[in-house]
Amino acid sequence: MSRRPLIAANWKLHKTVPEALAFLDDLLADLTGDEAAEVVIAPPFTALEAVGRRLDGTAVRLAAQNVYWEDQGAFTGEVSPLMLTQLGCRYVIVGHSERRQFFGETDETVRRRLAAASRHELTPILCVGETKDDREAGRTDDVLTSQVSRALEGLYPDQLQELVVAYEPVWAIGTGLTATVDQAQEAQAHLRLLLARITDKSLANQTRILYGGSVKPENINALMTMPDVDGALVGGASLSADSFVGIIQF
Ligand code: 13P
Repeated sequence: MSRRPLIAANWKLHKTVPEALAFLDDLLADLTGDEAAEVVIAPPFTALEAVGRRLDGTAVRLAAQNVYWEDQGAFTGEVSPLMLTQLGCRYVIVGHSERRQFFGETDETVRRRLAAASRHELTPILCVGETKDDREAGRTDDVLTSQVSRALEGLYPDQLQELVVAYEPVWAIGTGLTATVDQAQEAQAHLRLLLARITDKSLANQTRILYGGSVKPENINALMTMPDVDGALVGGASLSADSFVGIIQF
């Protein structure tokens, strides 16, 4: 089963609308349009509309960084799946470790967001990953197993056809410390086996599993040689068009 590589930019809390548009001018000038990888950009909510308009008619896809699970209602400050699809979002990041660490995200809220996204044909990019303590205590596989199985609870394989999983070891995010290619491969092979166990084997084989955590143009090639690394979720190095293009054209 061949899986098309996916390179996604997670801009986190960066870029105003003019900054986002300036980035896109540079990015679109550098892309040939027939890149092997599918390219996705997740700007902050405030730039989704402008970025979506600029990407219209290009091969670059739009993603949101989070989503609420209700379609509408008295939920001040939240953004619904409907609002995102209406702006042209194809993907949504769910369960990023920064949301788990700083904003009270739990396995249960991750599960609800994921279910809401799949109901609206918004492809979830489910983020999972162990902390430094987990890894040092030998708990990496257990943590990944628990995060993934709780996120997918109650969902059927036909609701997860497009699912993307991002393995993002918390200790590698924004630290300059990248997991070694063997650490990434080992964790991601575990994730694929797990997906086969809790969904089915063909779904597990078609699911793209990304690596995230200090990905740069200098380390993407080695990561992409690993059989279970199907792409990258890029933070810091996605903020400049130069380095992001260097990653896309690995
Ligand atoms: P960095 O690439 O800045 O380490 O961030 C990774 C990440 O969190 C992507 O979601």
